Amino acid sequence: MTDAVQTPSLDNFTKRVFSGIQPSGGLTLGNYLGAVKRFVEMQNDDFETIYCVVDQHAITVWQNPEDLRFRTREIAAFFMASGLDPSKSILFNQSAVPEHAQLGWIFNCVARMGWMQRMTQFKDKAGKNAQNASLGLFGYPALMAADILVYHATHVPVGDDQKQHLELTRDIAIKFNHDYGVDFFPVTEPVIGGPAARVMSLRDGSKKMSKSDPSDLSRINMSDDADTIAKKLRKAKTDPDALPSEEVGLEGRPEARNLVAIYAALGEETVETVLRDVGGKQFSEFKPMLVERAVEKLSPISGEMNRLMQDGAEIDRVLKEGSLKARAIAEPILRKTYDIVGMLQP
Ligand code: AMP
Ligand code: TRP
Repeated sequence: MTDAVQTPSLDNFTKRVFSGIQPSGGLTLGNYLGAVKRFVEMQNDDFETIYCVVDQHAITVWQNPEDLRFRTREIAAFFMASGLDPSKSILFNQSAVPEHAQLGWIFNCVARMGWMQRMTQFKDKAGKNAQNASLGLFGYPALMAADILVYHATHVPVGDDQKQHLELTRDIAIKFNHDYGVDFFPVTEPVIGGPAARVMSLRDGSKKMSKSDPSDLSRINMSDDADTIAKKLRKAKTDPDALPSEEVGLEGRPEARNLVAIYAALGEETVETVLRDVGGKQFSEFKPMLVERAVEKLSPISGEMNRLMQDGAEIDRVLKEGSLKARAIAEPILRKTYDIVGMLQP
């Protein structure tokens, strides 16, 4: 949008990852392969990693308070069960760090109505009755930008559906830097990709796998047991042809592509290497391989989630500790932002 403006190079910033998931119900295989599995991969010596349960984003649509508390802990359990280690990554919930909302207000004043009106997720979620959507749902991407930039995060791993929000985050950083004549906020790199950046519905290869799809057969839930996973994958829509041995052969075959991509992502392979092995096989042969791999990878995660959920106090302790570490980073960045903007801090 404002490419002509000089923006600070990411080299000047600590390499820091931020991402978040909403505690708004039902975790799917899409959340795991598109997001959390990649969060775990980035938890290494190259990056500082910060992962957040974004409860303030969740209430942009109605949430029952008891359910919200439960689901906030559930996402924290999902993070840990998937391999995020609280001694390596900062894990916390958004509302425990008020700096997000504080910077969010500043960004409400940086972002433009026209930018927000282009957000496809708002249009999808608000549906036909946009007049009745909350103001928070409309302003949501400015809070998301604040989540990221209050840590000066340089890299944000997300699924493909968040791409537009990350472009908006970049536009907000660029406009803030430009308006105030500073090189303060980094222009964050989205980390989107891999075979499962967009996991599709098991019933319709043209639709995203989503917790809100009315058909439970369309998705694998992280809470599904082995029998349910097997049943859903056996019933997954396919086509009558054998699998190709090269990627071009998946063109025009969205359901076949999706199942191969899921198989690849679960096994840390590329679609290309998978096809080299399974090319020529019928789905009747491939599906049992997929079931075996899915159950082998997913069952330990759901088992560990259940175990962690037995001890809510321990989850709260981890989140509390994470929020203190998060605030230690966010607070000075917010203070400096206030200073740049001209907010008197007597
Ligand atoms: P949400 O559950 O909408 O808060 O999404 C949390 C994260 O999971 C985001 O990074 C999404 O992009 C990612 N995600 C959700 N559904 C999918 C999907 N079907 N395929 C890939 N990533 C997804
Ligand atoms: N908008 C994201 C989603 O719906 C969740 C989210 C909120 C997020 N803040 C974030 C993701 C910051 C990455 C970084 O999935």
